[in-house]
Amino acid sequence: MYFMKKAEKVVSDYNGYDYKKIFWEDADRKYEDMADRLAIRKLLPKKMKNFVDIAGGYGRLAKEYLNRAEKVTIFDYSKTELADAKKEFGDRISTKQGDIYNLPFKDNTFDGMIMVRATHHFKDMKKVMSELNRVLKPGGILVIEVANKRTLPKMFRYWFKKSKVNPFDKKPSNLKELNGDGFFNYHPKYIEDLFKKQNFEILDVLSVSNFRSQRLKKMFKTKTLVKMEKAAQKPLSYVRFAPSIYYKLVKLDKSGK
Ligand SMILES: C[S@@+](CC[C@H](N)C(=O)[O-])C[C@H]1O[C@@H](n2cnc3c(N)ncnc32)[C@H](O)[C@@H]1O
Repeated sequence: MYFMKKAEKVVSDYNGYDYKKIFWEDADRKYEDMADRLAIRKLLPKKMKNFVDIAGGYGRLAKEYLNRAEKVTIFDYSKTELADAKKEFGDRISTKQGDIYNLPFKDNTFDGMIMVRATHHFKDMKKVMSELNRVLKPGGILVIEVANKRTLPKMFRYWFKKSKVNPFDKKPSNLKELNGDGFFNYHPKYIEDLFKKQNFEILDVLSVSNFRSQRLKKMFKTKTLVKMEKAAQKPLSYVRFAPSIYYKLVKLDKSGK
């Protein structure tokens, strides 16, 4: 994977990186994949007219929305990812390449949208949310996954002085030790305030990938972990301690309805 800077913004460039094979197929991530799918099945509307998967990569999650939308677009920065998506789904999808900070879509285009496993790449979530809001119709639904700063493991690492990142501090964190430009994590309070400022209302919240741990993966079969995950996503959403927090948002119209 290569990383490059564009203006002040970080772009995590997946061109030439086999994300599907390296991150999903060759790694033990069946549980995480299923955890994402469970949340999307629950939160995404059953019927949509014009839908876009933002930073959708090679269309890993396409099977979760193809039958729910009349028109499907996968948007991503990486031509490699989009070519893989096109190869697999052909005419069932359109693809669009671009940068999230300047979405190549007209105002009020979509009535449904998801963005999963992408916020950790974005330094300026205010600009990202304003772009997502711009291209969504009033009343349109956005299902967004946010990389959580305030997780239980991060709390323990902080308390036991293994990390200087204070998970209770509401400012976004930038984990530079993971790569040169950093991975951004967001505190639930920070991101929820931002959603409101950007004219979104939160309709539902789920806590996702609650059991993401190598130790638990060794102790339990994937099937068992997925069952536990299914039961835990809603109740644990009230504490928001998981690495992924999913939000179902609606874009309000200008009058705030
Ligand atoms: C971790 S992958 C997630 C892909 C997909 N959403 C999934 O869950 O499988 C992150 C994706 O974000 C895309 N991306 C990163 N920075 C971007 C940017 N500035 N604009 C558009 N896409 C971007 C990458 O190309 C990559 O496909």
